[in-house]
Amino acid sequence: MVANDPAMCSRIYSTLAWAAYLKDWPGPDEGERPSAYVVLLHDKRVAEKVEWDHGIMAQTIMLGAASKGLGGCILASVDRTSLAGILELPEHLAILLVLALGAPKEKVVVEDVDEPTDRGAIRYWRDDARVHHVPKRTLNTLIHARYVA
Ligand SMILES: Cc1cc2nc3c(=O)[nH]c(=O)nc-3n(C[C@H](O)[C@H](O)[C@H](O)COP(=O)(O)O)c2cc1C
Repeated sequence: MVANDPAMCSRIYSTLAWAAYLKDWPGPDEGERPSAYVVLLHDKRVAEKVEWDHGIMAQTIMLGAASKGLGGCILASVDRTSLAGILELPEHLAILLVLALGAPKEKVVVEDVDEPTDRGAIRYWRDDARVHHVPKRTLNTLIHARYVA
């Protein structure tokens, strides 16, 4: 499902939960909210179950969006019952993920995680200048073993 109709975008927005780690931020202000959505759906007539396909879809669409200068957010915290009602989805279509897209407004800084086994270390945070910091595990700590010639 794809949408950029403002009325539909605002109805989709009402079913989403934003940035659980930022306790004092309820989500983007009106006027800064996503201007388009892609909802990834599972067509149960085509496949009984889904595994990793929607992760690949989400990432690929986000990379495509980023290459066009758009910002995006993958959302799994979705009120699926409400959204299925809003989209009037038939029984055979189930909501997997929601992709929110728009013109990026915030400054985002990607940082290295120091302690790779610390589960909390990847919590994103905001500084006083409203810069969004996203800690990422480094490539070296992600590779378990190397057998290279
Ligand atoms: C599968 C998945 C589900 C996510 N669900 C949500 C969500 O429901 N709400 C949210 O605010 N962020 C969610 N996120 C986090 C953002 O999409 C995003 O990954 C995070 O802000 C870090 O930005 P970056 O991935 O561009 O570095 C999710 C991420 C992934 C990979």
